[in-house]
Amino acid sequence: MSTKGLLRSHSSVRKYTGEAISKETVVDLIKSAQMAASSHFVQAYSVVWVTDEEKKQKLGELSKNDFQFQTAGAAFLFCVDFKRLQVAGQKHGVDIVADSAENVLVGIADVGIFAQNFVIAAEDAGYGICYIGGARNNPQEISELFNLPDYVFPLFAMTIGTPTKRNETKPRLPVEAILHENGYDVEKYDTLLDQYDTTMEEYYASRSSNQKIANWTKQMADFLVEQRRPHIKEFLATKGFNWK
Ligand SMILES: Cc1cc2nc3c(=O)[nH]c(=O)nc-3n(C[C@H](O)[C@H](O)[C@H](O)COP(=O)(O)O)c2cc1C
Repeated sequence: MSTKGLLRSHSSVRKYTGEAISKETVVDLIKSAQMAASSHFVQAYSVVWVTDEEKKQKLGELSKNDFQFQTAGAAFLFCVDFKRLQVAGQKHGVDIVADSAENVLVGIADVGIFAQNFVIAAEDAGYGICYIGGARNNPQEISELFNLPDYVFPLFAMTIGTPTKRNETKPRLPVEAILHENGYDVEKYDTLLDQYDTTMEEYYASRSSNQKIANWTKQMADFLVEQRRPHIKEFLATKGFNWK
């Protein structure tokens, strides 16, 4: 498949055959992920490969996505990591300033780009994946489970494996809603979001499993009407990030 064909055929997988993924494959995927661009070359990421079955199931429970972890061929925890950078600084007698809002943004961007390289490499090899932002439901417990030190925090987990079936792709927002030419245009949203709601209503009503009556704007309104995961700011402070 062409790169473009691969990118446009993505859909998240939440049920796998259970077949384990070999160390050779994992190392191969990580090598592809590592070639992602990295802000100022900080490479501010670490990944925990969870091979201990008990810990894998616990990660699923703490992430409130346990059904996926039961059949996944591998599970990973993707972390923002400034610990290694602290050690690098110490080698030169320097105390690095890890604790800044800028570094949190840098770390999140680095992990996201790194992880998406990992995903593309995995999908190219025929595997399915699902990001698990649910790992931020219980970040403290997850940090303890995997001995994450200060300056390291979990951004998301990921399940990966051989899919039992592939879902249809989910229609994205119209390109015009995303692409702004020479300046931001808020006026266009009324019409474009109505159009997209119709597209999504049709998609949800006709997809091969889990059919429902729903549209995108209502889903977003319901989701964002309250603060999500209010514990995160305090949790990040326990890891050494006070957003200076
Ligand atoms: C950072 C991130 C976190 C996510 N967290 C979860 C999750 O906790 N559980 C889940 O089932 N899917 C999760 N997803 C998958 C999204 O729901 C999915 O990507 C989105 O609905 C689009 O569907 P698609 O990936 O099949 O195209 C997450 C995706 C991303 C990028």
